Formats: sequence, C-alpha cells, structure tokens
Amino acid sequence: MQAQLVLLPGDGIGPEVAAEARKVLAAVAALYGHQFAFEEKIMGGIAIDELGDPLPDGTLAACREADAVLLGAVGGPKWDDPTAKTRPEAGLLTLRSELGLFANLRPVKANRNLLGASPLRSDLVDGVDILFFRELTGGIYFGPSGVSDDGREAYSTMVYSVEEIERIVRLAAEAARGRSGRLTSVDKANVLEVSRLWRRVAARVMQEEFPDVAYDVVLADAMAMHLLARPRDFDVVVTGNMFGDLLTDEASMLPGSLGLLPSASLGDPGPGLYEPIHGSAPDIAGKGIANPLAMILATAMALRHSLNLAAEAAAVESAVDAVLDDGLRTVDIAAGRPHVTTGVMGDAVAAALA
Ligand SMILES: NC(=O)c1ccc[n+]([C@@H]2O[C@H](COP(=O)([O-])OP(=O)(O)OC[C@H]3O[C@@H](n4cnc5c(N)ncnc54)[C@H](O)[C@@H]3O)[C@@H](O)[C@H]2O)c1
Repeated sequence: MQAQLVLLPGDGIGPEVAAEARKVLAAVAALYGHQFAFEEKIMGGIAIDELGDPLPDGTLAACREADAVLLGAVGGPKWDDPTAKTRPEAGLLTLRSELGLFANLRPVKANRNLLGASPLRSDLVDGVDILFFRELTGGIYFGPSGVSDDGREAYSTMVYSVEEIERIVRLAAEAARGRSGRLTSVDKANVLEVSRLWRRVAARVMQEEFPDVAYDVVLADAMAMHLLARPRDFDVVVTGNMFGDLLTDEASMLPGSLGLLPSASLGDPGPGLYEPIHGSAPDIAGKGIANPLAMILATAMALRHSLNLAAEAAAVESAVDAVLDDGLRTVDIAAGRPHVTTGVMGDAVAAALA
C-alpha cells in the first residue's frame, strides 16, 4: 500500500527516537512491499524558535493531509518561561483539537523481561495487557467553568452528549472484538448524573451493536484499586476524560518503564496521532541513550489503527519483544547492566523484523 506519514520529531530526545521509528517503518515497507512517504515538519519548541509558533500553519496543513502523524515529544526548560507568549505544549493541544482527536488509546502491557522494574510484585504484573480508551475532547476539562466575582467560589462542569459517548464506546468495543472480546466501562454512576447517561448509552450500544463482546461496568474509585490488586483481569477499558487521565497515569506505572509505553489519539475521519507517553527528557537529550521502544511501539499502533496493517503491527511488536528477549537494554531499563545506544536498539528491532 501507499501511505503518507508526517513525522514531527519535536524537541529533546524527540528527534532521536523519531529517527529510530522511521528506520523501523522503512524496514516494514521494504519487507512487506509498501510505500511509505515521510514528510518531516517542525512542531513544539523548535517551531517557536524558528517561526514563533509551536504549530506552524505548514505543519498543521501537512498533518491534515496525512494518513498518520508520528510525534516524538515536545517541550523543555528552554521554553519554560512563564511570561512567554506561547509554549511547545500549546502546539500539541491545538493539533489534537484541529484534528478532532476524541479518543486516546493507551496500551499498558507488561514485558516479561522487565517485571522487576515494576513497583508491584512480579506475580501481579506478569501477563498484564490492558488497552485504555480515554475520551479526550469532552467531559469536565471542556465543560462550562468559572469563578465568582469575589473569587470565593469556582466550578467546572462535566458534560457528555449521547453522540460523544456512543462514538468512543463503539471504538473501544470494536477493539475489544479484535482482542479477547471483553470491555469494561468505568464511570461514577452512583454519584454523577452525567455518568448515569454514560452508563445507559454504553449499555444500549453494547446490547444493540456488540452482543458478542462481554461487557461490564466498574466505578472509577473501585477501578483505581482493582488496577493495583488484579490488573490482569482487564482487557479493554473505556472511560471519560478525567477518569481516564487519572487511571491511565496510574496504569502506566504497572510495567515499570516509561520508555516502553506508546499512545494513539484517533478522530473520525482524519489521521491518527501516534506518540510515546514520555516527554522530551531534556536530562538525557543529545546523548544517544534514549529508549526508542515506546516510539517504535507507537508506529506499530499507527500501522494497526490508521493504515489497517495489523500483521505488520504485530510483527513490529514481536520484534520489540525479541530484542528484549535477547537481553538488549537501553540505560533506562538496564538496571545497572550493560546497555546499548538508541541507534543500536533501533537497528536491532529493524533487523528482528526480517
Ligand atoms: N507529549 C509530549 O510531548 C510530552 C509529554 C510529557 C512531557 N512533555 C514535556 O517534556 C519535558 C520533560 O518532562 P518530564 O521530565 O516531566 O518527563 P519525561 O518523560 O520527559 O522524563 C521523565 C524521566 O524519564 C526519563 N525518560 C523519559 N523518556 C525516556 C526514554 N525514552 N528513554 C530513557 N529515559 C526516558 C527522562 O530522562 C526523565 O528522567 C517537559 O517540557 C514536559 O512538558 C512532553
């Protein structure tokens, strides 16, 4: 197939890990006979330096035309000045809203070779494989908010419409169908009216459109406990913006290594945005030691969710598993043992594909 991919390397270690993702995608293209055209664009701090705008018009236009957008990371101390007119992260927020990215997907998968890095006992974490769907453009972060004239009261409102709930539940249920066939919806229907609507709409969608998917509901506070006590029991989880924000950050600690976790943001229609969950890691930028695996796993998500290349996506994920099985480690996951550079890790994944 032919695909147009926009690469936004960004700041700090972003360009270092993005280069490895490109390497792996080139290997996939060669191996499977695809043609991937890459267009590199500036975004974040580098775009502020060059054009005074974290998301220049040319970058946004290229993203709109793409099949998928791959982002390294943005930000860093150079642009942290609180008096500055804009920040690198503002570009990311604008990009998400311009592309209508309403669903944030976060896989949380424990790697058997790295269980010792988890803050939880290995026997609890071994086998964890959860895919979160967090609603990204609605809920309390976007509802009406304000503060009283005397500054003694403030409010933020959680609002969801039937359509917003239906579209994220459908995406999550379709993903569940392609995995173990189980979906859990997380809400706070014992307290919040908006959650009661969420629960009714989700139940109807599941009953009418996905009778083959096993479905259950869990309260958000209970879910926070279950993620620590029995994380293996969950497969696909769907929830609103704020609960998803908190629960995905909690869950990201389960595997114990930030350098291994990708994420995707999807809209419909339009391209998806794929990125590692880590930031620009200014403390290690330029040293060639960043772990590129989260970024490489983000490209696997792009293959699966935007290009419909499930076999190629699985091959990239297996290649990552294979290099870890072989004992290859970047410094963040080496636990004091010998480690390799970013480039060597990327080369090894590309080679393991063949
Ligand atoms: N989506 C994004 O672009 C994004 C996300 C989070 C943070 N940020 C930005 O990144 C900058 C740094 O933020 P932070 O320090 O809080 O978080 P961070 O994720 O950049 O770094 C946290 C720690 O993890 C390490 N680390 C992160 N990724 C790694 C990798 N791939 N390999 C090895 N080690 C890795 C770093 O060296 C650091 O010690 C800030 O400007 C922040 O705003 C951007």
